[in-house]
Amino acid sequence: MRGRGGYCFPLAPTGRRVALGARALGGHRPAEYGASVPEISVFDHDAVLSAVGPLEAVERVRQAFVEYAGGEWAMPPKVYLDAPDGDFRAMPAQGAGIAILKWVTSFPHNPAAGLPVVTGVICVSRLADGELLALVDARSVTALRTGAVAAMATQELAREDARSAGIVGCGLHGAWAARCLAAAEYGPGVCFDPDPDAAGALAGELGWEAGSLEDALGCDVVTCVTPGAEPVVTAAGLRPGQHLNLLGADGPGKAEAELAAIGRCALFCDEWRQASHGGELAGAFEAGMLVGEQVTELGAVLTGEASGRTEDDAITLFDSTGLAIQDLTICLAVLEAERAGALRPPTVRL
Ligand SMILES: NC(=O)c1ccc[n+]([C@@H]2O[C@H](COP(=O)([O-])OP(=O)(O)OC[C@H]3O[C@@H](n4cnc5c(N)ncnc54)[C@H](O)[C@@H]3O)[C@@H](O)[C@H]2O)c1
Repeated sequence: MRGRGGYCFPLAPTGRRVALGARALGGHRPAEYGASVPEISVFDHDAVLSAVGPLEAVERVRQAFVEYAGGEWAMPPKVYLDAPDGDFRAMPAQGAGIAILKWVTSFPHNPAAGLPVVTGVICVSRLADGELLALVDARSVTALRTGAVAAMATQELAREDARSAGIVGCGLHGAWAARCLAAAEYGPGVCFDPDPDAAGALAGELGWEAGSLEDALGCDVVTCVTPGAEPVVTAAGLRPGQHLNLLGADGPGKAEAELAAIGRCALFCDEWRQASHGGELAGAFEAGMLVGEQVTELGAVLTGEASGRTEDDAITLFDSTGLAIQDLTICLAVLEAERAGALRPPTVRL
């Protein structure tokens, strides 16, 4: 266990299935392949979601921010690889005895062809010796950790008496943000989406209401998870004391709030290095409207190094760009569920 009250995946392969090499594989492996070929657990979408509930995800994500802010976990910058109709992202991180690499897509036009926007895999290795431990579905992990960070940021930054929750953009990640907010006892709320079926389905699931954009923006806590193609939050629509989670603008050129709205808020982000290049605040930063010192990383609030909300009337804005440490912490929870016997995933040998 870590000294700071954290957790650590055991460094030694305790009781893992390890297959023999060339002979066990019928002699098809070349001799130089080595003496042993470990079995790798494969966690699909449903296994991830059955292992980690929204409330656990919120607590795990909080722990990830604390560990990273305290220097216990490490996360090199995300790498983008552009494609004609989207992009690929490579996201590494290490902490708690494991190292991950998430290889994930964002192809915004895919739904028209019946394909997911976000898909990919997370490779999980043991930090001590590099052994590959697991392959984890990236889509479910992304959904859980993205929804969880919205709820966690709300717990840290919203007013104590904040309850009503507006969701703007009720697609995959908007729905998970709403589920995590509801699990953290926010709501009832208002779901808005230009697609009334999306808003209606989410509202029905949670016992909330489907409403107009104005209704959603009028709530105590407003969470935007749109494609970020055009601003939905205006300065005129802001209410004193609100908290905003802006999750949709997770790459260059996207924005969900107009610059004048950003200028009225106390600003927080997941990581400034990432947020200043491709997050909600990047446009204001590039326009010279703000400097890095005006933006507080949420981890610093969690560790007590920085203040969160300082006035009841302040409007707090949290810019989420999505961090690999969030993915790592969900993968850790999945591995722990397997070790506890709650999951029996299939395995492969490479
Ligand atoms: N911050 C993060 O960590 C993170 C993680 C995953 C995805 N994202 C981003 O979140 C955004 C949404 O992703 P998704 O997978 O949920 O997409 P999605 O296609 O499943 O959902 C997007 C929803 O937004 C709705 N929408 C479109 N324009 C809107 C508008 N002007 N107002 C309100 N709703 C509108 C769409 O109808 C759709 O229901 C994308 O930009 C994605 O890159 C961010």
